Amino acid sequence: MSGASLLEEYLRCNNMEKLGTDDKEVLVKSYVELMAEVAVIKKLGFGVDGQVLLVTYKGQKACLKVGYEQRDVFGDETYWQAHIMAKLDGIGGAPKVYAVCSDRKVILMEYVEGTPMEDFYKSGYGIDSFDRIRIENGVRRAVKQIHKAGYMHNDIHEMNVMVCGQPGNYGVRIIDFGKSRLLNAEGMSAEKMMARDLSRVEAMINRLKF
Ligand SMILES: Nc1ncnc2c1ncn2[C@@H]1O[C@H](COP(=O)(O)OP(=O)(O)OP(=O)(O)O)[C@@H](O)[C@H]1O
Ligand SMILES: [Mg+2]
Repeated sequence: MSGASLLEEYLRCNNMEKLGTDDKEVLVKSYVELMAEVAVIKKLGFGVDGQVLLVTYKGQKACLKVGYEQRDVFGDETYWQAHIMAKLDGIGGAPKVYAVCSDRKVILMEYVEGTPMEDFYKSGYGIDSFDRIRIENGVRRAVKQIHKAGYMHNDIHEMNVMVCGQPGNYGVRIIDFGKSRLLNAEGMSAEKMMARDLSRVEAMINRLKF
């Protein structure tokens, strides 16, 4: 398959016309085009599927998630992730999508100024119990907002929740929608899917207590 048809092939295989919605259609650029518009500042993270970079784009910070090329497009989460984030349009704190590449598994998205929950809780920020309750309720609320929009996040853990803001006024934003699912569209009831997300929230909160 030629590189240029990667997104088209993904859309065709998934019976999708485009990524996003009519008014939130995702901007598509070639890898060369996009890379000419960004400057890499540093690496933010990496996993089995790719790496995440902090970049500048149009004079502001942005986040570039780059999937490894050898991963097969049919199991690919990159375009799905961009699609869901465009549809959510900030719900649950989901990062806004700026663009995807047509020929590489790359998403350019809003940079979330914050700290992954695990690092935040373990770094001795000295948060008091009010901050804790505020943050933990924030996660519950954000996940429920995602459910209300019709999706299960399906990968709630300490590195996919970002804590933002200042002492006394912390908030949370959920990231990494690569494993998200449509409620009602899978072989599991929406109630079960939502309950599973919420039990993962509670499990995460319990892990972070110690
Ligand atoms: N939009 C963003 N803004 C700021 N930091 C981000 C953003 N997206 C990701 N990160 C950072 O990069 C890390 C890895 O990102 P992410 O969770 O999206 O990738 P991943 O876990 O490798 O992906 P996947 O689970 O889809 O393979 C996050 O824990 C976070 O620290
Ligand atoms: Mg992640």
